[in-house]
Amino acid sequence: RFDHYARMRANAPVHFNPQLQLWEVYRYADIQTVLGDPHTFSSDASVLQTMATMDPPRHTQLRRLVARAFSAKLIADLEPRIVHIVDGLLERARRSGALDVVNDLAFPLPVTVIAELLGLPVEDQLKFKAWSIPAIKAAEAELHGMPVPPEHLAAVAELEAYLLQMANARKTEPRADLVSGLVHAEIEGQRLTDEEIVSTCRLLLIAGFETSANLIGNTLHLLLLHPEVLARVREEPAQIEAVIEEALRLHTPFQFLARKTLREVELAGQQIPQGQLVLLMLGSGNRDETAFERADQFDPWRPPVRHLSFGHGIHYCLGAGLGRMEARIAVTRLLAQFQGLRLNEASPPVPLQSVVLFGLQQLPVQWDGTL
Ligand code: HEM
Repeated sequence: RFDHYARMRANAPVHFNPQLQLWEVYRYADIQTVLGDPHTFSSDASVLQTMATMDPPRHTQLRRLVARAFSAKLIADLEPRIVHIVDGLLERARRSGALDVVNDLAFPLPVTVIAELLGLPVEDQLKFKAWSIPAIKAAEAELHGMPVPPEHLAAVAELEAYLLQMANARKTEPRADLVSGLVHAEIEGQRLTDEEIVSTCRLLLIAGFETSANLIGNTLHLLLLHPEVLARVREEPAQIEAVIEEALRLHTPFQFLARKTLREVELAGQQIPQGQLVLLMLGSGNRDETAFERADQFDPWRPPVRHLSFGHGIHYCLGAGLGRMEARIAVTRLLAQFQGLRLNEASPPVPLQSVVLFGLQQLPVQWDGTL
């Protein structure tokens, strides 16, 4: 896919895809332009409505509300709890003698954290995973102009019914969690609608673990493929932050975002009519040579340039701080406790089968000993 991106950046950076009947944007600067202009490029581009697909003014109000729960201070306060969860997961792996970084660490960590924040039973995490995959597949089908398979919509409806039940329980018995916060919040004296509460919880739940899980798996995968980087991080653990940013850039967890044009607009010499779907190829923009030298190489110590992996502008990821912290703690604790960590030769990493998400399904590792 990366060769295709490079060809498109060179030859057709803003391209109308006749099969999918949509526009694809491949260059860093053009992607930033689109994300920076929500009045022309609307986020209201999906049947699966959430805060992420709303435009101002409602988006501004809802985002302000949810952002309170994701303030830098509240996120920093989660650090000891995250360390505790990571250590528990690593202890389990140490005892069993086997570790698949994706399924034993990268996935259970963020799903536990977001379930605790929302106030959902952590035991239901396998259900969350079973619901999130159809939700993502539904969005993918939609972008390909295909009807969304009814079983995917049924899974989303099941998740929504589950979340509504949780929300209703908190109406009478509020607790110190985000679901209660949303249920009892007011915007200009008005409560949120049930639909808004449920869709916001659904967004936080799915955005809160699928992408973080991929970030953790991708970061560790890149470290294991680059022993010289791994050695430096073992010596200077603070360097992990640069490694995570570079992993976000090179193995972009969300490969693209969608927008819809509200008026006819010119972009890089192309006239895009009103009402068109526009895909912003983040995974391509993050490898644009005009923004990053030697863009295809993994080099955590390159001069800092902002990657596009958390988006840009008014919808910039609310969970960026949390996602970065989860990845930092997971990778640092793993490296500190497991000596001689390496890929499992008998069982290579298995990539995810997805066009929108970039990550691994399995990342089995071996090690020499633990501390
Ligand atoms: C928005 C990526 C983690 C919650 C976004 C957007 C991107 C993104 C690209 C922009 C969407 C758009 O403009 O259409 C990522 C990546 C993560 C991550 C790569 C990896 C760590 C999280 C976490 C949470 C979260 C952990 C919450 C717990 C959100 C929310 C929005 C969002 C609520 C919508 C913000 C808005 O519409 O104003 N994310 N995300 N994300 N993300 Fe994340």
